[in-house]
Amino acid sequence: MNKLQRLLTTLCLCVLTATTVRGQETSNHFDITPRPQKMEATGQKPFTLTAKTVIAHDAATSRQAELLKEALDTPTGYDLPLREGRRGQIVLRVDTTLVTAAEGYHLTTDSKSIEIVGHDAAGVFYGVQTLLQLFPTAIYSEKTCRHTAWTVPTVAIEDAPAHPWRGMMLDVARYYFDKDYVKRFIDMMAAYKLNRLQFHLVDDSGWRMEIKKYPRLTEVGAWAGKDADRIGGYYTQDELKEIIAYAADRGIEVVPEIEFPAHLLSAIVAYPWLSCRGEQHEVPRKNFISHELLCVGKPEALTFLKDVLEETMNLFPSRHINIGGDEAVYTRWGECQHCQAVMKRKGLTKASELQGWLTNQVAEWLAERGRTAMGWEEVVMRGRVARPVTAVIWHNPEDTATVARDGHTSVLAPVGSHYFDFPESNSPGEPQHATWSGIVPMERTYTMPLGDYCKGGSVLGVQGCIWTDQFICGEKLQEINALNENRSETYIEYFIFPRMLALAEAGWTPQALRHYGDFKQRLKSQLPRLDIRGWNYRVPEPEVVTVEQTADGFVYTLATPVEGADIRYTTDGTWPTVHAPRYTTPVKVKNKKDLRAITVVTPRHHSLPLMPEEAKE
Ligand code: ACM
Ligand code: ZN
Repeated sequence: MNKLQRLLTTLCLCVLTATTVRGQETSNHFDITPRPQKMEATGQKPFTLTAKTVIAHDAATSRQAELLKEALDTPTGYDLPLREGRRGQIVLRVDTTLVTAAEGYHLTTDSKSIEIVGHDAAGVFYGVQTLLQLFPTAIYSEKTCRHTAWTVPTVAIEDAPAHPWRGMMLDVARYYFDKDYVKRFIDMMAAYKLNRLQFHLVDDSGWRMEIKKYPRLTEVGAWAGKDADRIGGYYTQDELKEIIAYAADRGIEVVPEIEFPAHLLSAIVAYPWLSCRGEQHEVPRKNFISHELLCVGKPEALTFLKDVLEETMNLFPSRHINIGGDEAVYTRWGECQHCQAVMKRKGLTKASELQGWLTNQVAEWLAERGRTAMGWEEVVMRGRVARPVTAVIWHNPEDTATVARDGHTSVLAPVGSHYFDFPESNSPGEPQHATWSGIVPMERTYTMPLGDYCKGGSVLGVQGCIWTDQFICGEKLQEINALNENRSETYIEYFIFPRMLALAEAGWTPQALRHYGDFKQRLKSQLPRLDIRGWNYRVPEPEVVTVEQTADGFVYTLATPVEGADIRYTTDGTWPTVHAPRYTTPVKVKNKKDLRAITVVTPRHHSLPLMPEEAKE
């Protein structure tokens, strides 16, 4: 979006919000996502924020109060007073007796005051996110909206997450997103109460974390190509501390992922002695999965691993340390005299069992330091691992039961429902995307029966994954269609949103309270909130409300999936442009394939065409 378009959108949304608030008052329908567990409209005159509204807070929530002030000051143009204690119109505080569930909060608003009581600081932060969603959409504007009534409907909300792990995995190894983008990503997660960022810092095509003891990891391993063609980057330890603190303020734990024994070529390029063969390689410039492995038979390679994990733990206070572990092909270990010697000593018969042996050692070593090892499902499926670890199940959700039988916990992130680098549809206009598995429609992300998997207590929750190997290669993104700009932010966000909202609700809201139709209804008013924050998303195609068969064709009643957006359509089977006729009343066509319709948010932000002959009816 250019500056003018952003301004127009802001102005437009400043005006639009007045209607939204009126709608909320009359219908008692609050579009909060993820849907709170208990929410009641109390029907009083709304609370109105003014320049004199004092934000009071206790000692535990001063940071949350500052963040609320920042969020409110920008769009209102006020400089709201902050005060420690309880004397204020907005009060934030922690009370573990009143709110017993971890990360839970109570939010009560009346005509004169707002109170957010959290079980902990994270709970208060989530109460603040809910409060922001109760304000007019313009509350998210980066510019001052002078003529907006900053009202909040009166409600009583009691809320807490259904699941403790509500994560996203961000692959910064294949495509390096700078520190500021990572913070933006954290903002996007935090707005929807996600609480774990699996930070994929290491892969064949890049090592992204400064390690003081092994400087070549970032001097060499963070870069691919030469001179003007060089691409890559890394985070200094100071930058990582900043990211970790930024996330912690927003209720998010950053879990570092240090990949081994495979997906480690960038480190092997920096230090060839880490691998079995010791050969010199190059950091690949394009997507590539190397068969080189960390040589587990060389003591110096194991020392390297521990040194790296030691520095990692000194930086990241997370309970879990993710050790990757996926997709190792064991040929090199099978051929290596050092690795073979270990196998012989330990009585292992298959090279793959060396991975279990390695995981055991590392898990034990991490546990001695108060941390829990975590990794992709392979960490517990390649030989028996005695120490309980947490496995990210990325193939078959039923394997949550398999790993539980061995005493391990798990997080669900199945490819078919939670890998957001796959597109939502098969439509020809989808941007370049991962192709090794099928599409991932949002409904699948939403409806995975997480509550059922979690019944035994060993499944911690759910996670979305955004890999960047298949669709982002090089210093620039692939040329993609006109729906998107050729910039990493717009591109990655197209894949993340709105599926990340479906993920967030599945992680937060108990299964019994979740209904896809209700979620989609609320999504209509959430998407303009993404617009105003400048977060890109895949605009959903128009919805088919009804289709009626007549003697000579079909009559379609359509609805927009984005509040305030137009529908444009054609009846000759051609793709509509943003200037095609605007949908106002039901449309009649002879054949289903004659109708094509798009959702138009702005001329540069619109959906792919609805193809009703392919739609589910
Ligand atoms: C994975 O997708 N290789 C975990
Ligand atoms: Zn070896």
